[in-house]
Amino acid sequence: NADVVPQAPEDALFGLMAAYRRDEDPNKVDLGIGAYRDNNAKPWVLPVVKKADEILRKDPDLNHEYLPIAGLPAFTAASQKLILGGDSPAIGEKRVTSLQTISGTGAVHLGALFLSKFYQPTTDRLVYFSDPTWPNHFQIFSNVGLAYKTYPYFDKQTKGLAFDGFLDTIQSAPEGSIIVLHACAHNPTGVDLTQEQWKKIAGVIRSKKHFPFFDTAYQGFASGDLAKDGWAIRYFVEQGFELCIAQSYAKNFGLYGERAGCFHFVTSPAFDAESTVTRVASQLAILQRSEISNPPAYGARIASTVLNDTELFAEWEDNLRTMSGRIIDMRKALRGKLEELGTPGKWNHITEQIGMFSFTGLSEQQVLKLREDSHVYMTKNGRISMAGLNTNNVDYFAKAVDKAVRD
Ligand code: LMR
Repeated sequence: NADVVPQAPEDALFGLMAAYRRDEDPNKVDLGIGAYRDNNAKPWVLPVVKKADEILRKDPDLNHEYLPIAGLPAFTAASQKLILGGDSPAIGEKRVTSLQTISGTGAVHLGALFLSKFYQPTTDRLVYFSDPTWPNHFQIFSNVGLAYKTYPYFDKQTKGLAFDGFLDTIQSAPEGSIIVLHACAHNPTGVDLTQEQWKKIAGVIRSKKHFPFFDTAYQGFASGDLAKDGWAIRYFVEQGFELCIAQSYAKNFGLYGERAGCFHFVTSPAFDAESTVTRVASQLAILQRSEISNPPAYGARIASTVLNDTELFAEWEDNLRTMSGRIIDMRKALRGKLEELGTPGKWNHITEQIGMFSFTGLSEQQVLKLREDSHVYMTKNGRISMAGLNTNNVDYFAKAVDKAVRD
């Protein structure tokens, strides 16, 4: 009897998007969902994606047949190389199994589902997320029956990393916990670890026999440098960890609606690594088949066309630098304007944070005020999508913030 179904709350982010669309004010500013916008606040189809699209459309053999259960082989192989590095020993030693997924969300889900069935630590299984994290993490893991806690991540005072709390919490977590980590461009804070901090975290994860689960949605988009943004994952793999990776192509290819992503499971270089990976792959294939049968083809074909062609790949890197460069410029502009206005508080974190988002430190009350008075849309936790700012609206936004902070 469906009568018993309670009303669920609307998704906060997509609800915000809908509210923005309804707003008829000509000055409205959308700083909600993490999707890149050009300097005219318009979605940007990457020029290299347009090229790949044309190549695909000219192919007389292109059809709409099913992909294999694990997805397009040329795409998954290129995805491994992209995230792990072309010379990764894990790839050479056949310690990686990869499945194409419904973007990053599908990859996180497949990993969570797999762990819910097969991960057997010695103590109670617990998943640890950063506080805060991408809100969808909570529901994806709890939907597969995994209990979670959080580790401190954001220091409200410095608006930087709460490193000591992070380290202490994973140190005192039950042995064998699953630790979810954002590889780069942390969502929602824009605060990342330094390489030294990553090394310390890796040390604790090793000593406590925890299981690292990397979510990577911004490789190349954060710094404009693919190797730099992939560094943490490559370091953990080099250290011999068994781990999994959820990789999204939504942001770095601008393929938001095409749902192109990849899940990788990397086994440690133990004696039977290859046989382990074969068994893991067989189970993942069953899970994938029961959930989606096989993944959607178009987005993966686009990404694969680019990733497997030297010239297109170089052009993609150029497109990535365009996006990350514009965001860095907007960080500088916003901080500059706020400092010029003498807006109470410190604003150095705006340029110190990285990637799609800035965690401004604005309170929920200030966020609501910005929406009511100035038609600025951002999430209640004070996160802004930097890509929503441009040379036409950054002044307007800075003045609106100034007003909200002073009121
Ligand atoms: C965001 O956090 O804005 C994006 O990752 C979009 C999403 O799916 O939540």
